[in-house]
Amino acid sequence: MNSPHNLPGQPQLAYRGNELFCEDIRLSDLAKEHGTPLFVYSKGAMLSALAAYQRGFAGRTVQICYAMKANSSLGVIQVFAEAGCGFDVVSAGELQRVLAASGPAEKIIFSGVGKTRSEMRAALQAGIGCFNVESEAELEVLSDVALSMNVKAPVSIRVNPNVDPKTHPYISTGLKGSKFGVAHERVVQTYQRAAALPGIQVKGIDCHIGSQITEVAPYLDAVDRMLDLVEAIEAAGIPIHHIDFGGGLGINYNGDTPPSADDLWDKMLAKLDGRGFGQRHLMIEPGRSLVGNAGVCLSEVLYLKPGEQKNFCIIDAAMNDLPRPAMYQAYHQIVPVCTRTAAPATYDVVGPVCESGDWIGHDRALAVQQGDLLAVLSAGAYCMSMASNYNSRGRAPEILVDGAQTHVIRQRETVAEQMRYESLVTR
Ligand code: LLP
Repeated sequence: MNSPHNLPGQPQLAYRGNELFCEDIRLSDLAKEHGTPLFVYSKGAMLSALAAYQRGFAGRTVQICYAMKANSSLGVIQVFAEAGCGFDVVSAGELQRVLAASGPAEKIIFSGVGKTRSEMRAALQAGIGCFNVESEAELEVLSDVALSMNVKAPVSIRVNPNVDPKTHPYISTGLKGSKFGVAHERVVQTYQRAAALPGIQVKGIDCHIGSQITEVAPYLDAVDRMLDLVEAIEAAGIPIHHIDFGGGLGINYNGDTPPSADDLWDKMLAKLDGRGFGQRHLMIEPGRSLVGNAGVCLSEVLYLKPGEQKNFCIIDAAMNDLPRPAMYQAYHQIVPVCTRTAAPATYDVVGPVCESGDWIGHDRALAVQQGDLLAVLSAGAYCMSMASNYNSRGRAPEILVDGAQTHVIRQRETVAEQMRYESLVTR
């Protein structure tokens, strides 16, 4: 057999001969057994992405809270819970998922601009570690809810540091004009109000400047702004126990060159040390960088449709399974599961959904035939967690690969399951 040929940025994927493997599993075997579209995740890739953060933080006090919106499947949460992670949740649904996967409540932080009273109650009941509060109005309501339960809500205030993360506008969150966080100028005042509220206990401060960030500079700017604020808040007599820098580190989708997690944190910690904050309790909320490149979506070529202007390669995965190209014009690599020696042709790779926006990749050079399998790469983050039933398509199953073992962590959704909560009008 030829020596394995790895794909750039995808350490768990390699061609052995002409067959693509995930860890020790032949992907065509999985497609045969479970059908397509099919998500396949590598546990090893998730743990090695986590290890890069752990290396970066060696010798420091840090809590890594996996931002589970990136992939909220129970089997994925379980991997991170067993590895000692905390979780960043944004809804009562995500909170319940962590608890269902035996994640520790005290390591949960609750982010989001629109927490409801009932979500606050559920989180207080569970005993979560911290609420990342996003507005003064939310503080008042949270204090009220906590008082009604005779507890104090642990709080950090999400600050909008007004730095440009240089990423897609839909996933920039730390700029003025964004709905997220409390404006820089109002932060000290907001902390003073928090400290005065009877149902609130101030714990920390947090920010999150955006997603798919591929440069170090915006993070370093955010550190400076956050530390200026910590100094000002503490000068006002309010101690800050932890500093949470959010998530956002990008991955390699198509030759992107984000810093590695350990490299980023080397630079961040040097800055924190330089300002005397290196021994503080730190928190981070990474999502995409822990799971994005751990997953692929396998799909079958249904039809090849040559056209005058374009050739179409119609596959059985669609925008309901892989929404990122349609939503953000995102690029995902698409590779054959079994390579052919034939010369490639150029195709637009599209799904069966009845919308022109249902495309997965434009102008891709592929040597394919009807019935072949393709792998859409970097599909571990913001794919299944954003999947929908559009066109009444069932959500795809998910397989977790661990060495030579496979675990079905989600079964294919049936049409009957999709219709479960609907009813005809009775007369
Ligand atoms: N913390 C907070 C408060 C967040 O809002 C997010 C992501 C994260 C952490 C995790 O960020 P990450 O490390 O994954 O970049 N659906 C979009 C991404 C939306 C990100 C939303 N917030 C996409 O597919 O690109």
